Amino acid sequence: MDALMRLDHRSPEEVKAVIRFAQGDPFWRTNILSVEKLRKQYDQLNAKRRQRASSNDPNRFTAVWSSFNIPPRLAEASFDAYQPTSSEQEKALAKCQAFADTGLANVQEGKGLFLQGPVGTGKSHLVVAILRSILENNLQQFGKPVNGEALAGEPIYEGMHCLTVSVVDLLGIIRESFSADNLKAPARRLLHRARADALVILDDIGAEKPSDWVEEQLYALIDLRYRMQRSTIFTTNCTLKQLESQIGSWVVSRIFEMCEGVKVEGRDWRKQSLFNNSVADADYPINN
Ligand SMILES: Nc1ncnc2c1ncn2[C@@H]1O[C@H](COP(=O)(O)OP(=O)(O)O)[C@@H](O)[C@H]1O
Ligand SMILES: [Mg+2]
Repeated sequence: MDALMRLDHRSPEEVKAVIRFAQGDPFWRTNILSVEKLRKQYDQLNAKRRQRASSNDPNRFTAVWSSFNIPPRLAEASFDAYQPTSSEQEKALAKCQAFADTGLANVQEGKGLFLQGPVGTGKSHLVVAILRSILENNLQQFGKPVNGEALAGEPIYEGMHCLTVSVVDLLGIIRESFSADNLKAPARRLLHRARADALVILDDIGAEKPSDWVEEQLYALIDLRYRMQRSTIFTTNCTLKQLESQIGSWVVSRIFEMCEGVKVEGRDWRKQSLFNNSVADADYPINN
């Protein structure tokens, strides 16, 4: 391997990518069995790898999308499906669409969004819509993390990674992993992605039960993403005051440096659809 880098002046990242490509390809896997062979076929392999990465592989969207960890309940969420019920929501939709339109640049520059508003106003929906739009328009730039379990022959998609995670779940799995050995590896993987992925959604921040430990965990994670200029999208049901007392004013001020704020006010969609679809209004009057 050293020869490839030293004598052939290849970059370590490229060599790694070419080796991964060769190992994942059913034909090359059985034909490249030595470093000499790899050096000889390197240019051809690299060309094939590039070609595959840039071709319109119909499975790529599904594979990459599934690595985003979108909750199944919101899997279909899109801008088209979002129906604003207030002028605030109209503005929120426009802001989110604008963010998605410059999505790649935002991600590369570490810019994020902070969606704040009452429960059920479509904050998580809008975030999923943003991700869908960014991925559709920049499919080749996004990849899927590989762990040791990748099957032979399974295509490897390289590119930026994106993770959606609820803050309550993230902290929950870290906490549980202290006393459950089988959770240590998944918790480590999840936390690693929350720290390192190019785009991370921290959903429902402020919903966790406050404690010094929680504040410390969130401080460490958000401070790291802030320093590394990694793009982060937050959603919260908390007012700013509540959030400051939940996670500390220092973290909140960092969030504001990293993000553009989006207020999402309006009716609770879940309640609304419950009343529209199944229950007589007279039985359960809506007061707001
Ligand atoms: N304005 C809207 N138009 C269409 N669907 C919506 C709207 N607001 C919310 N929903 C739907 O209502 C449910 C709750 O929305 P969600 O985004 O989870 O709310 P929040 O994150 O603000 O609590 C989801 O199924 C979502 O798709
Ligand atoms: Mg939500």
